[in-house]
Amino acid sequence: MVTNNHRKPTGAGKSSFDLIDVEAFYRELDLKKGITFLDVACGRGAYCLKASEIIGSTGTVYAVDLWQEGIEQLKARAVEENALNIEAFVSDAGRHIPVDDQVVDVCLMATVLHDFVEDQISKEVLDEIVRVLKADGLLAIVEFKKIDGPPGPPLHIRLSPEEVDDMLAPYGFAKEHLAEVGPFNYLIFFKNSNPVNLKRRIINEVVF
Ligand SMILES: C[S@@+](CC[C@H](N)C(=O)[O-])C[C@H]1O[C@@H](n2cnc3c(N)ncnc32)[C@H](O)[C@@H]1O
Repeated sequence: MVTNNHRKPTGAGKSSFDLIDVEAFYRELDLKKGITFLDVACGRGAYCLKASEIIGSTGTVYAVDLWQEGIEQLKARAVEENALNIEAFVSDAGRHIPVDDQVVDVCLMATVLHDFVEDQISKEVLDEIVRVLKADGLLAIVEFKKIDGPPGPPLHIRLSPEEVDDMLAPYGFAKEHLAEVGPFNYLIFFKNSNPVNLKRRIINEVVF
């Protein structure tokens, strides 16, 4: 398990962005202008740089990774590309995601859930995601198909869509749909229907 910034975190330096069909991915994600997007374990931020462009200056992109070098590279590219809506942080997602409660419209975890399972921190990360997602927020997960690689992690640690669904159901996530994003990866969507968050939303609507 990775617990500090001195060791290289699991999967540091790897990205699935060059393996996926980028056009199909963003078509499926269907990001709207002005929303709040969170990329958990963003690496160098390939996914969130493009998201920043789509969401525009009225939206916010939060990017979190434990790998300091990746976050520094993302910050440098954000400056170069004038992507002023990106806020990037070095943080252990299993401990704390530095984002307020219930502000995120869309949360992405790209090819990292299997690492969190291996590191035995998936429960802590999912608890944090439930905390920061809006009551009707969307969780998008990219994982490697459960087929022999390379590319990708060993077969025995890959997660099938059914395994991801079973893992997320206890956190109140309801499966929305499954999409093809290239020969090696799939994209699966979940709606946050956690009863605690739905209750908060009803209270907010009544009070305000
Ligand atoms: C396979 S890479 C995926 C990077 C990115 N999502 C992409 O596909 O371009 C996994 C990422 O998870 C990060 N990571 C591993 N453990 C983490 C943790 N506990 N908290 C935050 N990030 C973590 C690694 O540093 C690495 O950048």
